Amino acid sequence: HNHSAVPLDEVLACSTSELPGRTSRKRLKIDGRDILIIKYGVNYYAMDSVCYHAGGPLYDGDIEELGGRLCLVCPWHKYKVCVDTGQNYYQSVDPFHPKTSVKWTAGSQRQRTHAVRVHEGNIYLKLTDRDGTLDSDKYNTEKQDNL
Ligand code: FES
Repeated sequence: HNHSAVPLDEVLACSTSELPGRTSRKRLKIDGRDILIIKYGVNYYAMDSVCYHAGGPLYDGDIEELGGRLCLVCPWHKYKVCVDTGQNYYQSVDPFHPKTSVKWTAGSQRQRTHAVRVHEGNIYLKLTDRDGTLDSDKYNTEKQDNL
C-alpha cells in the first residue's frame, strides 16, 4: 500500500532539521534547478535562488520585513523580492507629496516561487514550471551549474 502522503507533483526537498532556528535558509539543487528554501518563524517559502535582476546571489540576501511584507534583499543592487509571491518590492513616492507619501509597493512577479508543504518533519516542494515567463527563469537553466 501507499506509505507516503506525498502527491506525485511534489518533491522531497529536505528535513526541517536542516533549517534550524527561527530564521534560516537552505539552497539546494532539485531536478537540476537551483532552489532556495527560507524558514521564517513558523513559515516556509521557496523560490529560485538567483536574482531576476542580473543574476546576483539573492540566496545570500538579508531577510527583512518592510512595509508589512517579508522580503529578500539582493546583495548586488539591493532589489527587494517578496518571498511569498516573488514580486519586486519598492518604495514609491507621490510626486506631489514627496515627503509624506513614500510607501512600499509590490510590482509584478519577477522571481519564480514554489509551494512549500511541511509534513512529518520533511519539507516538500511543488515546483512551478520554468516556462520562461518570469525574469528569473533565464538565470535558472539546465546549463547553470554553480551550486
Ligand atoms: Fe539582484 Fe541586481 S542582481 S539586485
